[in-house]
Amino acid sequence: MAHMQLEIRRVETQADMDDALSIRRAVFIDEQNVSEDEEIDGHDRDGGWLGEVVQMTGYLNGKPVVTGRLMPDTASDADAHIGRVAVLKELRGKGYGRLFMLALHDEARRRAYTKLRLGAQLHAIPFYESLGYVASGDVFLDANIEHRRMDLSL
Ligand code: COA
Repeated sequence: MAHMQLEIRRVETQADMDDALSIRRAVFIDEQNVSEDEEIDGHDRDGGWLGEVVQMTGYLNGKPVVTGRLMPDTASDADAHIGRVAVLKELRGKGYGRLFMLALHDEARRRAYTKLRLGAQLHAIPFYESLGYVASGDVFLDANIEHRRMDLSL
């Protein structure tokens, strides 16, 4: 079956940010039990999504279904960090997460980032591996969920 067209665009307004957060609330807060305090930070509030922080959302027929963010990594030797990647539960396994990650990679290339890093929930490691990421280091807890570091050279 052909994919419905996924329209991916950058968060530019509060309304766009609300769309992105609607996905993250459903996935991280409601489904994975992450607290709101841990989930939503300064990059998500008061225009914190502008400038060097890039948040993007993919829409199907106008409905926000996949989101994630890309930002300079100031805490490691990577150029940029990807995080908060989420696809609505009922739409997983259809390739939308992959299409969305490829769009984030295009955006990273436009910004001349070559080393990308993320913290992958253990269940998502095969997903990121299929995109070329390589896991390393020990398992660590973030928001009480087990993660491993993964890196990609663009
Ligand atoms: N197990 C193994 N491989 C998987 C997988 C799984 N559960 N999910 C995806 N993959 C791999 C497959 O190789 C797949 O390719 P295929 O078409 O050959 O099957 C490829 O990744 C692309 O999968 P896709 O359909 O694009 O993934 P998705 O749209 O379901 O998105 C997540 C993947 C992880 C973003 C999605 O499952 C999700 O939002 N999970 C909940 C939130 C979350 O945990 N986010 C990650 C935080 S680190």
